[in-house]
Amino acid sequence: MPTGRIRGPFWINLLFVILECCWKLGCGQLSYSVSEEVNPGTSVGNLARDLNLNVLDLEARTFQIVSGSKRKYFDINLKTGSLYVTERIDREELCAKAEKCVVNVEAVVNSPLKLYRLAINIIDINDNAPYFSETLQSLNIAESTAPGGKFGFVGASDIDVGKNSVSTYKLSRNDYFSLEIHKGEDSVSAELVLLKALDREQQPTIKLTVTAVDGGNPPKSGTANIIVSILDSNDNSPVFSSSLYKTRISENVSVGSTVIVLTAVDADDGINAEIEYYLRTKGQDRILDLFQIDAKTGALLVKGNIDYEESPAFEIHAEASDKGHPPMSAHCKVLVEVVDLNDNAPEISVTSLLNTVKEDAQVGTAIALVSVVDKDSGKNGEVKAVIMNETPFKLETNYKNSYSLVVNRLLDREIVAEYNITMVATDGGIPSLSSTDTVNIQVFDVNDNPPRFSEPLINIYLRENSAVGTVIKIVSAIDADIDNNGKVSYSLLQTSTDPLSSSKLVSINSETGDIISLQAFNFEELKTFQFKVQATDSGVPPLSSNVTVNVLIIDEND
Ligand SMILES: *[C@@H]1O[C@H](CO)[C@@H](O)[C@H](O)[C@H]1NC(C)=O
Ligand SMILES: *[C@@H]1O[C@H](CO)[C@@H](O)[C@H](O)[C@H]1NC(C)=O
Repeated sequence: MPTGRIRGPFWINLLFVILECCWKLGCGQLSYSVSEEVNPGTSVGNLARDLNLNVLDLEARTFQIVSGSKRKYFDINLKTGSLYVTERIDREELCAKAEKCVVNVEAVVNSPLKLYRLAINIIDINDNAPYFSETLQSLNIAESTAPGGKFGFVGASDIDVGKNSVSTYKLSRNDYFSLEIHKGEDSVSAELVLLKALDREQQPTIKLTVTAVDGGNPPKSGTANIIVSILDSNDNSPVFSSSLYKTRISENVSVGSTVIVLTAVDADDGINAEIEYYLRTKGQDRILDLFQIDAKTGALLVKGNIDYEESPAFEIHAEASDKGHPPMSAHCKVLVEVVDLNDNAPEISVTSLLNTVKEDAQVGTAIALVSVVDKDSGKNGEVKAVIMNETPFKLETNYKNSYSLVVNRLLDREIVAEYNITMVATDGGIPSLSSTDTVNIQVFDVNDNPPRFSEPLINIYLRENSAVGTVIKIVSAIDADIDNNGKVSYSLLQTSTDPLSSSKLVSINSETGDIISLQAFNFEELKTFQFKVQATDSGVPPLSSNVTVNVLIIDEND
């Protein structure tokens, strides 16, 4: 072994050292390998032997390891010549992600002084698990995304190197996604791939767990959770709680009253689920006059006057529409039954059959037809008509709500010539309503009364020798009938038992009943005579009666 460098000039010495190193290390460094994280004391190699030094000399020659860095990872056992690890070596701390991690130290020995460079290669062990910098990641995906869509996420890293770093990813079992793994030169990445159509309404969020696995033996892994939020698409129509609603309202219900509240729900989210209610605008103009709907609450409200008699029921078409783009809608039918109120009084109408009622009309003679109408239904429309006042007439039922006004007792115009028949019709509602109507009946005269003298026998006392042409008596008969039937004319009644032929003695004014003398009677010739006056009316046929008149001549002193 050359030792001349101490004696030679400095540069020659230096040259020797370099040459010696080249020789010793094969023009390289003496190199060793040791795994990181081995226990202190672990032997890296027998340095004394490798440097061809006698173990017994080591102590004497103060063989030592010199480290350039602050930390001294290695030392030499002077008894055995073995290079050993003095403290924990963390490859990642020393070299981070560097592919090769080498610690350079020097070994120095005196007498003579020698310097050896040692390169200790630190071998990576799989002491680090892959880790995600974001262990909770969120992903928003539109509900309408087609299968096959790909979505990235923040991957994991592993500070180990080579096969000890991330080598693959695994995905938790789920129905919607698979992983597509891209293996690069020295890195691995992954993307989520959508496998089938999403349905936010069925599952609004999907929780996935991604596991990054390294290639160590045994492998280590790290996980991250990915919360996939499905962004709503307007893919659901509103749905009414029923396609057919049935309800009842009473007629005349006040404007603004709630008939029924319609409800529809939409499985979508946000404005896609915001529902507005409408009444269908086409083909139900009448409905729109009478009803309206609160767009927000779905309350069907009364807007006009509900009249059972006009419409006993309504069929209303309503719609619910969401606010999506484009909106989706649904429709339903509402059947509204109107409950009748007793708001209509019966109405009486009278049709005369006869212009006049003769006083001799037979019992049962029909005078007029009376019909009663009530617009309400059921009990509210059931009517009964009666005559309120006492008259010789009655109402006979023909059929429901139709009556005949007939003569019930014999009439006598001379007693009652005119009737006001008051009829009342009452319905069966509670409370009931009624109306009245009055029929005026004039009884037509029939010649059923002869003229009547007030006394059966008339005595006339007449002075003799009175002047011819004197009105000796006025007779009068009264006829209860009227007009011609009551118009009385007077005449002398010719009888076979009238020997004197009284018409030669007196005459009578047919209109006035004045009896006029035709002779100046002489008591000595004629003391008394008798005749009959007949009163006749002008009826057809006429009726008459007679009265006997006795004339008594009173003697004068002649
Ligand atoms: C009948 O009614 C009319 C009109 O109200 C009235 O003038 C007449 O006197 C009444 N007749 C009877 C008999 O009550
Ligand atoms: C006159 O009157 C009486 C009784 O009123 C009657 O019996 C008689 O027949 C009448 N005579 C004539 C001629 O009409």
